[in-house]
Amino acid sequence: MSRNPDFSEDFYRRHARRYAEVSHNFIQSVYIDASHPALGGDADLMERLQELVPAGCRGLDAGCGAGARDVFHYWQRGYDIYGVDAVEENIQEARRLHPEIAERVSVADLRRPIDQRDGSFDFILCNAVIQHISPDIAMEVTLPEFARLLVPGGVLQLMFKTGSGIATVYDRDYASDRTFQLYETDDVLTVLTGQGFTVVPEEGAKLGGVMHFTDPKPMDHCVLFARKER
Ligand SMILES: C[S@@+](CC[C@H](N)C(=O)[O-])C[C@H]1O[C@@H](n2cnc3c(N)ncnc32)[C@H](O)[C@@H]1O
Repeated sequence: MSRNPDFSEDFYRRHARRYAEVSHNFIQSVYIDASHPALGGDADLMERLQELVPAGCRGLDAGCGAGARDVFHYWQRGYDIYGVDAVEENIQEARRLHPEIAERVSVADLRRPIDQRDGSFDFILCNAVIQHISPDIAMEVTLPEFARLLVPGGVLQLMFKTGSGIATVYDRDYASDRTFQLYETDDVLTVLTGQGFTVVPEEGAKLGGVMHFTDPKPMDHCVLFARKER
């Protein structure tokens, strides 16, 4: 973990159980100042992804977090979903909370190629993870890996913190400072386009396009659904 001064591995090690509690209770999952009227929180993204990708599809939650809330959510709804995270304690917490998905979650570092064949997944979620990866690696390794791992037509849900440089903010839910790598939205869009992704547009009132919101910390985010070219 040496190349990234911003990877809060110790934070997640220390707070794995609390992170799972905050996440499962959707405590930080309600958004303010969202750019799309239908975007109120994580639950709205989950609902929209389930419209874009039917149950039964194979998915990966890249950086699933302590407790793997979303892996459990989609698995319960019939998705063949797996989760990876770089922090062992986060995976242990997922297995403790959800023994049903114990075999579906494992430790992996998204700064390196994932040990799966090309086109292994119909969808990939990567929510609030590249904020812990240095931009050169996120752009040159992590995002291209998502393109490689998706089938043609597959969907990526990507959420990242926006701005330039690194930001440190006090997070009252953990009584701790947290530091995040920020990304310029246009830089991420350029890489996604280069990797053959097209942003899923708004469809009537349904979520789509390049969306922005602020979380309760408060930190500014971008979230989008992007489809890999067929
Ligand atoms: C803010 S949490 C988000 C967790 C989950 N995606 C969610 O939306 O609740 C960031 C997660 O990314 C994981 N992470 C950070 N760097 C990683 C890396 N290089 N490879 C895999 N996971 C990483 C952390 O361990 C942590 O669980």
